[in-house]
Amino acid sequence: MKLRTVKDVDLTNKRVLIRLDFNVPLQDGVVTDDTRIRSTLPTLNYILNQKGTSLVVMSHFGRPKGQKNPAFSMAPIAKRFEEILGRPVKLASDVIGEEVEREVKALKAGEVLLLENVRFYKEEEGNDPEFSKTLASYGDIYVNDAFGTAHRAHASTEGVSHYLPAVAGFLIEKEVEFFAPLLENPAKPFVAIIGGSKVSSKIGVLESLVKTCDTIVIGGGMAYTFLKVKGHPIGKSLLEEDYFDVAKSFLAKADEMGVKVILPVDHLCAKKFSDEAEALLIDSVDIPDELIGMDIGPKTVALIVDAVKKAASVVWNGPMGVFEFDAFAKGTEAVAQAAAESSATTVVGGGDSVAAINKFGLVDKIDHVSTGGGASLEFLEGKQLPGIKALEI
Ligand code: 3PG
Repeated sequence: MKLRTVKDVDLTNKRVLIRLDFNVPLQDGVVTDDTRIRSTLPTLNYILNQKGTSLVVMSHFGRPKGQKNPAFSMAPIAKRFEEILGRPVKLASDVIGEEVEREVKALKAGEVLLLENVRFYKEEEGNDPEFSKTLASYGDIYVNDAFGTAHRAHASTEGVSHYLPAVAGFLIEKEVEFFAPLLENPAKPFVAIIGGSKVSSKIGVLESLVKTCDTIVIGGGMAYTFLKVKGHPIGKSLLEEDYFDVAKSFLAKADEMGVKVILPVDHLCAKKFSDEAEALLIDSVDIPDELIGMDIGPKTVALIVDAVKKAASVVWNGPMGVFEFDAFAKGTEAVAQAAAESSATTVVGGGDSVAAINKFGLVDKIDHVSTGGGASLEFLEGKQLPGIKALEI
């Protein structure tokens, strides 16, 4: 996969329309995690360092469902963006309209205008051509660096690319640089560690990665359905009966392809699903009737650590247990540590695993921590992301 990037175009004296993903967590009007904003700095600084450039920035925040809703205003994000960028950021009065057009036209070299939440208009998610054209009229060139939203075919992520020269920023370029080889030609041995609560949301990733990986670790709540398929009692653990056959044929396929599947061989269980529940170690694959599987046990951790040690590339998506509860975070923490200590190329994607990496302070020890949740999942599923397709050479 080869992308056109900001380096392939002459930006001199251009007004650059850029789509970023500033859909960041907010608490009481304050941005609590600004990773997504910081990660766009290389692109923004590169553009602003070209002679005579100015920037019109587009992003969504939350899901205001096509309505103007002050609770979803970009205002608090604009404030943090300005601090991080280190130069004034003007928040536009709206997304479209005469006033915004005036604000855009008034932009001078070096100035930055952040539009209001593009999702204040239903035409954004509807990928409306007229709306896309209006957005496109704000710039001479379109840069997309919103990896987190690249799986959405919306006006600001895809529609605009039909009306302006479209190139990728450095964040999208970097995400693709780390993810694409995992599906095409990963350094071997390639170990995929897939966790999370549901088979239904991860089966696409498992079926995609089984084509290129040597070992797949299945952890988290979804592992119990796989264990049940293999005939093990799972007590009161999570079970997706509807996915029983899917899980069964996945295991058969992996076996046929010679891919090793690591499932939990021991567990940390609880009598109830609660933050206060005591962690009970079950030193067996089989879970007693009255217990709920909440985390992988130390023997499973050892198997994973061993696989990761021998790997040349590792991807991790999804927690190994209920890591939000301290007593059941050990398995997820151990996987995070193993990835951090590994000499392999390590890629972590998905909201929960990234949250775990942050929680355990290991961000700097992972080769690539993705800024995409749904986007990284769909990428790993082998789906074409509309926002990226528009930038391919
Ligand atoms: C995300 O946070 O995953 C992206 O910003 C996309 O948001 P969405 O799921 O509301 O489209």
